[in-house]
Amino acid sequence: MRLVLVGPPGAGKGTQAKIICKRAGIPQLSTGDMLREAKANGKLPADLVAKMAAGALVPDEVVIGLIEERTKAEDCKPGFLLDGFPRTVPQAEALDKMLSGRNLALDHVVAIDVPEELLVERAVLRRTDKRTGQIYHLKYNPPPPEADLEHRADDREDVVRTRLATYSKMTADLLPFYGKRGSLLKRVQGTGTVDDVTSRVLKAIELH
Ligand code: AP5
Repeated sequence: MRLVLVGPPGAGKGTQAKIICKRAGIPQLSTGDMLREAKANGKLPADLVAKMAAGALVPDEVVIGLIEERTKAEDCKPGFLLDGFPRTVPQAEALDKMLSGRNLALDHVVAIDVPEELLVERAVLRRTDKRTGQIYHLKYNPPPPEADLEHRADDREDVVRTRLATYSKMTADLLPFYGKRGSLLKRVQGTGTVDDVTSRVLKAIELH
């Protein structure tokens, strides 16, 4: 199965991706995680570090290159879940070209919808365990005492609001792009508990 999770910052893409990937036996390919890993290893150019810290997108060709390379790996043979890619129409077109060149296609594009005020609270109070990558929330999913917590540099409220504005501007054309493709695009309400959202996503992609 090859699927895309689309949604604004804090929508729960990473949280749901981990659950779905475990269920479906496919890897989670998160461009955000890949970029943060490159940054942690000192391999992300300074101008891209600055873009991420400011809540802007990195150039299309950078993330397209990352996905082209990563999807060639053996573990992507049964499929993969793209978390946070594509985010723009040029990225979506590049993905189409890449997949059709390999005689492959997307099975589902799932868009997670959450009201803006909830998104700010979700992102600002998010904490991630550095060792396990597990995502927690100080209010909704408190971390255990032994967790080695990290607060993302772009999860400050002002940067979160910039990221939300970037999402609206840059991703506005993406949903209509996929919406024109019959039943490919599924819209799922991202409010309620994590389990509520998981049930909706699993139903939308018919993975019971
Ligand atoms: P990226 O890492 O992709 O960030 P994002 O899209 O802004 O999404 P987030 O990771 O903030 O949120 P999420 O939807 O995964 O939510 P989560 O599950 O963690 O990108 C970061 C940056 O990298 C971008 O700004 C850009 O610079 C660059 N970048 C990445 N991809 C790019 C691309 N394709 N093109 C160009 N640039 C790119 O949940 C959030 C919180 O809510 C957590 O605390 C969680 O515990 C909690 N939560 C989740 N679900 C629920 C629920 N149902 N109820 C209560 N709490 C919940």
